[in-house]
Amino acid sequence: MRTPVPEYLQEVLNDCVGLGEGAVADYIPELAVADPDVFGIALSTVDGRTYSVGDDEREFSIQSVSKPFAYAAALTDRGLERVAQTVGIEPSGEAFDELSLETDSHRPKNPMINAGAIATHQLLGGEGASPRDRTDRILEFCSRLAGRQLTIDRSVAASELATADRNLALAHLLRNYGVIGGDAHEVVSGYIDQCSILVTVRDLGVMGATLANAGAHPVTGEQIVSPPVARQTLSAMAAAGMYNGAGTWFSEVGIPAKSGVSGGLLGSLPGQVGIGVFSPRLDAQGNSVRAVEVCRRLSADMGLHLM
Ligand code: DON
Repeated sequence: MRTPVPEYLQEVLNDCVGLGEGAVADYIPELAVADPDVFGIALSTVDGRTYSVGDDEREFSIQSVSKPFAYAAALTDRGLERVAQTVGIEPSGEAFDELSLETDSHRPKNPMINAGAIATHQLLGGEGASPRDRTDRILEFCSRLAGRQLTIDRSVAASELATADRNLALAHLLRNYGVIGGDAHEVVSGYIDQCSILVTVRDLGVMGATLANAGAHPVTGEQIVSPPVARQTLSAMAAAGMYNGAGTWFSEVGIPAKSGVSGGLLGSLPGQVGIGVFSPRLDAQGNSVRAVEVCRRLSADMGLHLM
């Protein structure tokens, strides 16, 4: 590619900004009032450079894009075997807020759906961790990946908790099956704090680049997770990161990715780049319309498809 990266990213943004379809998520009241036109793109390389355009300093709640990071932290804290007792690694083929449990074990099918992420959240911080420890752990972990201290948007968290009947129902069923222990409400509350961590597209780019770089931070060089944990996390993203659109996504774009209902999208291409995109209007599957198109473009123009 001859065009310098910043100019190229600006061209992609200009081409995608006109995509006006989709709607902001409205089942969380605070998200319903988001500015639908915000748009930012960041690309971080595994050798520590980050390029970004558009609303690249705008913070937004990370939502489901936190799920791969919580999975990576739980794998680090508990080990693959213990985590695998709680959550599977198969695509669910259902919407992100369905129960989607395996028939015999009752494990949620993967850590990228809400049921799997609630169960994964409870593993954070190691054996005997308190609800506060779990929230502190995921905030500290994401901050280390982003390379700056992140914060939790308390009004987003309160708004989601006040309308969390569905996640509470999932957590109670998980508790009934013995997949989680303790207080179901506390687990959901911690999971919602996790989803309310504020990030920018530049944060997501570098966080994705760390996973792409086998767990070593591209700027500081710190080994934040082990290579097997990074590989397992990217595998879960490849299998289930884009929900029931995961198969189409992988054939068309070919980048392990994770989307969230606030409109964020994380991509992580092993050995190459991390991608962060933010634009709040969502398609029917809950993925950001513009962010999906940006990733299609980057994949095609830069030859990023894994296959
Ligand atoms: O639990 C929820 O419903 C939200 N906190 C996160 C869901 C989400 O981002 C799904 N993404 N497409």
